[in-house]
Amino acid sequence: MKKINDKDSDNLEILRTIVKKPDVSQRELSKKLGFSLGKLNYCLKGLQDKGLIKIKNFKKNKNKLNYLYVLTPLGISKKTKLTINFLKRKMQEYDQLFLEEKENLKDKKISKELKKIGIGHNSIGNEGIIEENKTRTKPLFKTIEINIKRKTTIVDDKLFTHKGNPIPSWIELSIIDVCNRSCSFCPKSDPKTAPNTFQKMQMKLINKLTEELKEINYQGSVVLCGYGEPMLHKDVNLISKKLSEAAFVEVVTNGDTLNSKQISALYANNVNKLLISMYDGEHQIEKFKKLIKNSDAPEDFVILRDRWYDEKQDYGLKLTNRTGTISIGDQEEIGKYKKCFYPSYQFLIDWNGDVFLCPQDWQRRVSMGNMMQEHIFDIWTNKIMTKYRKDLINGKRIQSPCTLCNAEGTIHGKKHAQAWHKFYSGQIL
Ligand SMILES: C[S@@+](CC[C@H](N)C(=O)[O-])C[C@H]1O[C@@H](n2cnc3c(N)ncnc32)[C@H](O)[C@@H]1O
Ligand code: SF4
Repeated sequence: MKKINDKDSDNLEILRTIVKKPDVSQRELSKKLGFSLGKLNYCLKGLQDKGLIKIKNFKKNKNKLNYLYVLTPLGISKKTKLTINFLKRKMQEYDQLFLEEKENLKDKKISKELKKIGIGHNSIGNEGIIEENKTRTKPLFKTIEINIKRKTTIVDDKLFTHKGNPIPSWIELSIIDVCNRSCSFCPKSDPKTAPNTFQKMQMKLINKLTEELKEINYQGSVVLCGYGEPMLHKDVNLISKKLSEAAFVEVVTNGDTLNSKQISALYANNVNKLLISMYDGEHQIEKFKKLIKNSDAPEDFVILRDRWYDEKQDYGLKLTNRTGTISIGDQEEIGKYKKCFYPSYQFLIDWNGDVFLCPQDWQRRVSMGNMMQEHIFDIWTNKIMTKYRKDLINGKRIQSPCTLCNAEGTIHGKKHAQAWHKFYSGQIL
């Protein structure tokens, strides 16, 4: 896989910035990118020489001449390629972290050290006003730490904006409202809370979402998970292929319906990662490894998640009460955690287009809007979403369903929360 180097990364930043503001001044541009004027000039010239941008003169006012930077069609295609490379690199970084973590497991000393700083817990750096919840009482099990790290490389490394607003990095889709399993810790096991309705997301919605994500220049993941088992949707391959035009696509499954042919099909349809939750036991590792080996997908296409543990180890999950619907296990009390960054960096779309705050609201109590009626960016920035986001970054879980939620809420998204905080206090991003 082609790696993105420093020069590519600089060029990508420039191309992104001038797409958003073609009349940006060199001074503004150099400040925004953290480049000296000399370096900026050098990069701009390089981009012009390669035919990726055109630099046009225009009069800003009577006396002052300014420049307009326009991406050529070649420049637009280069920007897309660089973005894809950037996302691929994020995935590689995760894979590297995963391998290192495996090594660390052998080295108790390092493991202890990592525990102290709280992996993926945004605990390094104190640059912001918005701080995470810091008083976790329970240890994080190793298996969870690895999952958290993985999401960290996608959500927390970069922040992108559209029309000056931070945009999400993580979108979860509930493409089908049925699950073939009935896990004791999951609300889907209780037909009164989350009945199997067998409703499915339609391609019309997927197409609309994909186009709108392109419009906002989305740079994150779309995860097929939500309130059901995504592999039960007959169009899962088609859905993945379409979404891959605008996002990194991940599928989270219990693996029950998988065979080598299906793994190959997901890979061929541009799924970037397949995450398999193994609820039954260690013996499943062998089974899934065999399936992967006999498929066309590389080994690192699949992540096997051990979730066969008992109550004492929180079932291998970062166990939550799913906003008051699950009381099993030894869980944090409601009210323990105040701040929540979920609505700062992500949201969930249900099969019918309803948008929810997070994957915790299993009773679908409060919808932020509906994708079939509004543009996704308008929902993301509407009044209700803004109210929740503002309250939650300020530690106020005062509205339903947050009042009943015991999720930690600040494991990811600190950068987004800080950016929103700046945005709401009138500072330009
Ligand atoms: C409904 S499942 C959908 C994906 C797929 N059917 C699976 O089992 O992986 C969504 C995810 O939520 C996790 N989950 C369910 N109940 C939970 C709880 N109370 N606390 C934390 N995670 C939970 C599941 O393990 C799964 O990873
Ligand atoms: S407080 Fe809980 S329910 Fe509310 S947005 Fe955060 S995770 Fe979701």
